[in-house]
Amino acid sequence: MGAGMVIRGVEKHFREKESELHALGPFSLTVQPGEFLCLLGPTGCGKTTLLRILAGLETPSSGSVSFTGSGSRGRIGYVFQEGALFPWLTARDNVAFPLRAEGASWGEARARAEAVLSDVGLSGFEGSFPHQLSGGMRQRVALARGMVSNPDILLLDEPFSSLDTRMSHLLQEKMRELAGGLSATVVFVTHNIEEAVFLGHRICVMGPRPGRIVRDETISLKGERNRLSAEFTELLLSFRRTFEEQVAPV
Ligand SMILES: Nc1ncnc2c1ncn2[C@@H]1O[C@H](COP(=O)(O)OP(=O)(O)OP(=O)(O)O)[C@@H](O)[C@H]1O
Ligand SMILES: [Mg+2]
Repeated sequence: MGAGMVIRGVEKHFREKESELHALGPFSLTVQPGEFLCLLGPTGCGKTTLLRILAGLETPSSGSVSFTGSGSRGRIGYVFQEGALFPWLTARDNVAFPLRAEGASWGEARARAEAVLSDVGLSGFEGSFPHQLSGGMRQRVALARGMVSNPDILLLDEPFSSLDTRMSHLLQEKMRELAGGLSATVVFVTHNIEEAVFLGHRICVMGPRPGRIVRDETISLKGERNRLSAEFTELLLSFRRTFEEQVAPV
C-alpha cells in the first residue's frame, strides 16, 4: 500500500556563477505509506524543488531521502505544475506514454489510458490534442497520466491552481474520489489553504524560502468534507492564522 518516505535534513542551494540561492530546508519529514499529505506553502518557498528531489529529478545539496514500504523509490507518478502535456500527442497517447516507457505495447497502453481517461470524466475526448481541450480538461489528462501506471507514490504540483473556483472544486472532489481507490501515497502541493483543508489527511505548512515545516497536523475531519460546515471553516481559519502569523506576516 504505497511507499513511505523519510526525508532527512534535505537542503537545496542553487549556485550560478558568483551567486547562490538557498531554495529549501533543512527539511525533514516522514511520510507514511498510503498517506494523503498536502504540502501547503507560499510561492517560491521550494515546493517544486522538494517534489523534484523526491522524484529523483534533482539532487539535494545535503540530506537524504529514503523510501520505506516497497524499499526503493518504486513507481512514481508526477503531475507537473504546468501540466506539461506533449502537444503533438492525443489525450490517449499522452496518458499511454508512461506505460510505453515501461515497455507496454501500444495496444495495452492505449486500452489502459482510455480506462483512466474515463475515470477522470474524459470519455469521448481520447482523440483530442491538448490545444483542443479546455484548461480543466488538460489538467485532468495530466492527472490521468500521473495515475496511469498505478504508482506507489503520486506527486502533484499545484495541479488545479490555474483553474477557476468551480472547476478546481470539481477536480478536488474527483481527486478525493480517485485517491480512495488508489493505493498510492500522495503528496499534493498547493498554496491554496482551502484546497489543502479539503483534501489532506495530513497538512504540512511550509514557511517562506528556504522552506521548512512550520506546522504539521493530521486532519481529523471524518467522512464527507463539507466546505460550509462549522468544523471545516474553523480548521480553515486556524490554517489561515498560521499563514498570517508564520508564513506571510504583513
Ligand atoms: N533550477 C533552478 N535554478 C536556480 N534557481 C532555482 C531553480 N529552481 C528553483 N529555483 C529557485 O528556488 C526557489 C524555490 O523555487 P520553487 O520552484 O521550488 O518554488 P515553489 O514553492 O514551487 O513556488 P511556486 O508556488 O511559485 O511554484 C525560487 O527562489 C526559485 O527562483
Ligand atoms: Mg512550484
